[in-house]
Amino acid sequence: MELSANAQALAYLVSAILFILALKGLTHPATARRGNHYGMAGMLIAIAATLLGGEVQSYGFIVAGIAIGGLIGALLAARVRMTAMPQLVAALHSFVGLAAVLVAIGTFLNRRDAGTLNPVLMGELSAGIIIGAITFTGSVIAFGKLQGLISGAPVRFRGQHPLNALIALSTVALGVHFALTGSALSLGLMSTLALLLGVTLIIPIGGADMPVIISMLNSYSGWAAAATGFTLHNNLLIIVGALVGFSGAILSMIMCRAMNRSIFNVVFGGFGSEASPEASAMSAAAEKGVKAASVEDVVFWMEDADKVIIVPGYGMAVAQAQHALKELMDLLEERGVKVLFAIHPVAGRMPGHMNVLLAEADIPYDHVLEMDEVNPEFPTADVALVVGANDVTNPAARSDPSSPIYGMPILEVGKARQVYVIKRSMRPGYAGVENLLYYQDNCSLVFGDAKEVCEGLVNALKGSGH
Ligand code: TAP
Repeated sequence: MELSANAQALAYLVSAILFILALKGLTHPATARRGNHYGMAGMLIAIAATLLGGEVQSYGFIVAGIAIGGLIGALLAARVRMTAMPQLVAALHSFVGLAAVLVAIGTFLNRRDAGTLNPVLMGELSAGIIIGAITFTGSVIAFGKLQGLISGAPVRFRGQHPLNALIALSTVALGVHFALTGSALSLGLMSTLALLLGVTLIIPIGGADMPVIISMLNSYSGWAAAATGFTLHNNLLIIVGALVGFSGAILSMIMCRAMNRSIFNVVFGGFGSEASPEASAMSAAAEKGVKAASVEDVVFWMEDADKVIIVPGYGMAVAQAQHALKELMDLLEERGVKVLFAIHPVAGRMPGHMNVLLAEADIPYDHVLEMDEVNPEFPTADVALVVGANDVTNPAARSDPSSPIYGMPILEVGKARQVYVIKRSMRPGYAGVENLLYYQDNCSLVFGDAKEVCEGLVNALKGSGH
């Protein structure tokens, strides 16, 4: 069976609509699952319509590719831990970038042999290769940083921005030269410089700012796909690429706003604040010592509380403490305590990470408040229970201009009457900076694994016989 061009166009239209519905569904936890189903259906229709479209010359490689790639993808998806999701996403973006580069080079070779190159096509190829190559190496570096294969610390050196600008301008100049002349040498040099640019743009980005980079690379991968769509005259690829490109760009902007970073600095590599470790207030605070508390202390405070705000972070995800937290919430509510959950936009390791885990544990959405909604609640809360969150609660973001997280809005847990922080040690969070919260008078640390401590709290509450 071979689809006519009209039937294929219709199928692509249906796919495009399903992709838009998928994005709409993903805007709220309650509809996210449906959104995913729309996306999957759209992709199935798109792939089927493409394979039946009559342009395929031989199915052997395609079937083998789908079988091997599908198997690897399924195994990875089944095995990956939720906390390693950003790395996986970064790796997948790198594939999109690499595919765009390879398709563009393949098209160039084919069309050169056939003698059908023209400046417009070569302009499209330049765009595809430049965006694709930056996406590829940028995502590989992001993967390495997130996976801990290379240091997450920012790599900065004198003259970095002028160097980036020089590489970027040379890349574009070579792209223009290639479009006008079809020179294979320009193509090679342009590709090499664009690959280098992906590296130099991402190495200055430090740990805490990685989320923005992931979403920006997501956007780039969309533009790379759209450029490939132009090359292959595939309308659906252009539409999907634009959807991914714009949604990634919008997400990057939202995250920049949430973290008080400038989008300009993200795009051009390196963020505004330069940390000077020696000037940091952290060592001064470290002298003061921190207070440790026991499970019994926490229960004592929580039982008599009117309002408890739970602040989950990356450690809750690692320990998988969400189900114990749900039990804790139920027990406290039975005692008339109001329980809220506070979500910071970059808590955990991916956008919506905490929302997904809390939803999985059946914690009602109306108990889960975003940063802007929940911050005014802290001054009237009796207890703030921080469960494996660190950077997102660090007051240094407001008070210490030398801190790498300076300027990022935080959850103002320190304003609660009493703060308990569950973590295993004095090690810092992802950004690698000491948390000044721990040295506040109203803050104590409960050392231990988040799940074990939360289960301890549940048992102690059950046994306390109210
Ligand atoms: P972090 O600042 O990374 O702190 C997590 C804390 O959890 C650590 O202090 C750690 O201390 C503790 N922890 C780890 N395992 C634990 C366990 N089993 N039980 C109890 N505690 C445990 O987390 P956060 O506050 O959620 O902030 C997120 C950070 O990640 C931000 O800097 C953000 O920029 C970055 N980031 C976010 C994303 C997205 S999109 N959300 C993506 C990449 C990076 P111990 O080791 O002492 O236990």
